[in-house]
Amino acid sequence: MITNSQEQSEDIQLDQTLRPQNFQEYVGQEKTKKNLKILIEAAKKRKEAIEHVLLYGPAGLGKTTLSHIIAKEMNVNIKITSGPAIEKVGDLGSILTNLQDGDVLFIDEIHRLNKLVEEILYPAMEDYKLDIIVGKGPSARTLQLDLPKFTLIGATTRLGSISNPLRNRFGVINRLEFYTTEEIQKIIQRSSKILNIEIDEKGSKIIAQCSRQTPRIANRLLKRVRDLAQIKNKPIIDESISQEALNTLEIDNFGLEPTDREIIKTIIEKFQGGPVGIQTLAAATAEEIRTIEDVYEPFLIQIGFLARTPRGRVVTKNAYDHLGYKFTQAQQQKLI
Ligand SMILES: Nc1ncnc2c1ncn2[C@@H]1O[C@H](COP(=O)(O)OP(=O)(O)OP(=O)(O)O)[C@@H](O)[C@H]1O
Ligand SMILES: [Mg+2]
Repeated sequence: MITNSQEQSEDIQLDQTLRPQNFQEYVGQEKTKKNLKILIEAAKKRKEAIEHVLLYGPAGLGKTTLSHIIAKEMNVNIKITSGPAIEKVGDLGSILTNLQDGDVLFIDEIHRLNKLVEEILYPAMEDYKLDIIVGKGPSARTLQLDLPKFTLIGATTRLGSISNPLRNRFGVINRLEFYTTEEIQKIIQRSSKILNIEIDEKGSKIIAQCSRQTPRIANRLLKRVRDLAQIKNKPIIDESISQEALNTLEIDNFGLEPTDREIIKTIIEKFQGGPVGIQTLAAATAEEIRTIEDVYEPFLIQIGFLARTPRGRVVTKNAYDHLGYKFTQAQQQKLI
């Protein structure tokens, strides 16, 4: 699905070409940028590594990009890994011992670290110590190694899945927000320049409106529109070619794809608008729970089409209106 905000293979090269290299190129997220700049400046003055940083927010909003920028601003190396990639305690041990003073260790999807690995991380983050066990059985001993003064940057789409002890060891926790249409439009214009694509004001605006307030999706859509423009021999991307491409992709003016609409329709038609539990919803739509939670739901909630209540998911009036269903008083009650 093209509006899936999670990284896909087609993004990897695109991400590399389009990734902003410094704070100036990084559009939006003003609050987070301001906090990070202060943090970096202060650490530079003290000639220390910056505190551990946790970045959270939906996929494709720029967490990885920001981590690269932090390392660059600090003039240090960045080592990139992810929660699921660190399978054993020894894996983390060798990563940590290979770092240099000041280096950034970026752990993506940090909520997916296994418990044993996570526990090794606590003393490493707190005191830059690594506890290793040598030997087996009764003769086993614990050795403590000194680690370089590194900075851990953790990224997650699920703050709620991070244990308290881990969360408490981060000096700074920043939430990345969905972007405004104007910000996304700026990103599209910047990307067009880099990719040598001619695009006019209205063309970029239409794509921006359908990008689910997410840079990764904006870049992906831009590429698709460019492809269509090339096939049709259009030298400039304007409103009509953008609209045509979006129609072909079945993306509506809210940036919703068939699956989004299917989820909403299912709740309305089969569950009278909800509340419906996530498991039941997953079964009824033949989607995975994780996919609904990580890909579809955050944006549907963001635009106020879906609400989470203690009893399950409920469709709101906006969604009824958008899909042309009649919203009744009884439905209104469910949202309270
Ligand atoms: N603030 C921004 N300004 C301009 N471009 C951006 C910005 N944030 C992200 N991008 C673009 O979007 C792409 C995706 O960003 P990035 O890989 O950093 O997302 P992410 O938050 O790490 O996503 P995930 O959670 O899936 O790992 C980047 O390659 C970059 O081109
Ligand atoms: Mg990432």
